[in-house]
Amino acid sequence: MKKVLFLLTALVMAVMMVAGCGGGGGEKKAAEAPKVLRVGTEPTFAPFEFQKEGSKEFDGFDMDLIRAIGKQLNMKVEIQNMGFDALIPALNSGNIDVAAAGMSITPDRQKAVDMSDPYYVAGLVVVVNKDNEAIKSINDLNGKGISVQIGTTGAERAAKVPDAKVKNFNTNAEVFLELKNKGVDAVIIDKPVAEYFLATGGGKDFAKIVGDTLEAESFGISLKKNSPLTKEINKALLDLKKNGEYDKIYTKWFGAAKK
Ligand code: ARG
Repeated sequence: MKKVLFLLTALVMAVMMVAGCGGGGGEKKAAEAPKVLRVGTEPTFAPFEFQKEGSKEFDGFDMDLIRAIGKQLNMKVEIQNMGFDALIPALNSGNIDVAAAGMSITPDRQKAVDMSDPYYVAGLVVVVNKDNEAIKSINDLNGKGISVQIGTTGAERAAKVPDAKVKNFNTNAEVFLELKNKGVDAVIIDKPVAEYFLATGGGKDFAKIVGDTLEAESFGISLKKNSPLTKEINKALLDLKKNGEYDKIYTKWFGAAKK
């Protein structure tokens, strides 16, 4: 009898200890740990998002910006790599909270997801091989081969060129490689990305930009439709513009801040 009582007491004490520690500790942790902001991106879009050779780190203007936004919201930023055309489905299915991917704000996308206020003004350009003297603008692309990244506004623009043979690729590394190999005549891509590609070595030996910027496009951060975070992201963006943090990030990647 004594033995049974002793065992029972020991058991009850053990249970209490486990419950006490687990419960108490857990609560404390939950209160201290910042919420996670799950960010999706497609990192072949330098200088907005890219991974340095041999590195898994996410680098670039958008990456600095979203980390600054996370700090502002007191959230822990976790970035995942996915296909550009997978970002909106991932937002809608709840696999990520935001997409930071140089995503242009378009009426179609605004129907599918929430988009933040614009944080960068860009636009599309045509890129051709350096020795190509025949193509001087988008008007010379009829019936030509054009490579683009799948799901982008560049791909949409290429699809409107009469009789063009459009090749869609998952990454911009492949998009530019196809041009280098002369598998296509041109690339349609965002101007700051084309400029960076020409300036940083990768493209300057074989490529050049021709013609004018096709149309202005503004980048926004996208979220699931009616996300409660949309307002908070816009507020954070505004705060970062006010406190000079946005300008700092802008200058780091593009030189003197645009006014
Ligand atoms: N601005 C273009 C668009 O919205 C291209 C974006 C591509 N972004 C990327 N991370 N690969 O369609």
